[in-house]
Amino acid sequence: MLQKVVEEDRQGEAYQAFVGDVNKYSKKFYIESYGCAMNFSDSEVVASILHEEGFGATKNFEEASLILINTCSIRDKAEQTVRNRLHIFKKAKKSNPGMLIGVLGCMAERLKAKLLEEEKLVDLVIGPDAYRTLPGLIEEAEGGQKGVNVLLSRDETYADIAPMRLDSNGVTAFVSIMRGCNNMCTFCVVPFTRGRERSRDAESIINECRDLFERGYKELTLLGQNVDSYHFTPAGGSMADAVTFAQLLERVAVISPDLRVRFSTSHPKDITDDVLFTMARHDNICNNIHLPVQSGNTRMLSLMNRTYTREWYLNKVKRIREIIPDCGLSTDVIVGFCTETEEDHQDTLSLMHQCGFDMAYMYIYSERPGTLAARRYQDDVPDDVKKRRLEEVIAVKIITSGESYRNDVGKTFKVLIEANSKKSTDDWSGRNSQNKMLVFPKGNHNFKIGDYVQVKVNSATSATLMGEIV
Ligand code: SAM
Ligand code: SF4
Ligand code: F3S
Repeated sequence: MLQKVVEEDRQGEAYQAFVGDVNKYSKKFYIESYGCAMNFSDSEVVASILHEEGFGATKNFEEASLILINTCSIRDKAEQTVRNRLHIFKKAKKSNPGMLIGVLGCMAERLKAKLLEEEKLVDLVIGPDAYRTLPGLIEEAEGGQKGVNVLLSRDETYADIAPMRLDSNGVTAFVSIMRGCNNMCTFCVVPFTRGRERSRDAESIINECRDLFERGYKELTLLGQNVDSYHFTPAGGSMADAVTFAQLLERVAVISPDLRVRFSTSHPKDITDDVLFTMARHDNICNNIHLPVQSGNTRMLSLMNRTYTREWYLNKVKRIREIIPDCGLSTDVIVGFCTETEEDHQDTLSLMHQCGFDMAYMYIYSERPGTLAARRYQDDVPDDVKKRRLEEVIAVKIITSGESYRNDVGKTFKVLIEANSKKSTDDWSGRNSQNKMLVFPKGNHNFKIGDYVQVKVNSATSATLMGEIV
């Protein structure tokens, strides 16, 4: 099975599902994922590869013959979480010596064979571009040899592998459209762990989306570290045959008006008017943009190599609001980056107020070995100052999201029913186009998960809208 364990404040609900009857398989695997949506999406590719090899999925790692942990290196804390989990798996391996333990993903790529030394119990270390070699490496490891493949690729996109939707609610799914990142933000480890940017064949993306819709999925999120730089030219094609992100988005949107489309993540320097107009043209492309700002101060942005200024970002937000007036907007913020002064930090707070974000992921800067920032700058903001600044950005986020959610009281939204509410099976939960969560009583209606309903908002917190079906 695929267990979702989201890192730090992206803490989601850890949820689990079986594929068929696990007991009919002689070999069982357990997979746990950390980090970003790309990692969860990759775990579904890995599950598909293993299924082809006759492995069944289990949610109980103690009964697995193969435990895989798909890891994240984005902050030190993410790696520590993985190390803690490995120590727990070590105990399971003691009572089941034939068990294999594999580390996948970004930490595997960053630490490579060093992981075998560091964590004596690990049998397999496989980087994000090497999952096709998993069956061969498992075979070697079964023969007692440690298996390592951390080669990065310039063209691997796993385009032909249909991901196995193990943990799905059957309604929402991720579709990976590209891999890697060419951006070299100075704080970030991703270009080192995921390699060069490459775009997946547009036809394979459209086919996967169409297939998901035909199987009942109603909302797809197109995934990449920087989706706006998606650019695919078919083999033998000319520039004129190239597919841009705006074109891809449109091609997915026209599959059906009943299919909702989202995307993540956009880089402020790359999101184009073309994408914004495409969103405005199609009701089923959700009005929500995740646009990580990182800092509200131009000097910090330059040290981070984000390649835009505070003013550029604010203009971009203005443009979004001009073209899509009711667009939901969220962001990522890093506090305490190298040399950040109180004034720089105040610029971040004021930018957050100005933009009125509905949601924000906020992080304390964590120096990552090998990154440009680690090599060039000193991580010189004291921990207590970083913590206080984080509290301050969280406080502003609560104010802006509170205002945004309160403004929705009295409005009616089209909502896709995704699940029972966490608190009561008498209530449904689902999101509107702006990606805000709504909770509302099921009442006497016969709606089910995957249906669209119109919901009138009666009250709000800073993270949920409460309403009723109208
Ligand atoms: N590609 C996306 C972008 O550029 O906006 C985001 C990628 S990253 C997986 C998600 C977020 O983690 C970043 O937007 C940034 O806020 C945060 N992050 C990355 N490196 C970090 C670091 N060294 N310390 C703290 N936060 C970090
Ligand atoms: Fe990291 Fe920057 Fe690439 Fe995002 S755009 S993954 S923050 S290097
Ligand atoms: Fe983490 Fe790798 Fe994603 S470092 S955030 S899992 S690309």
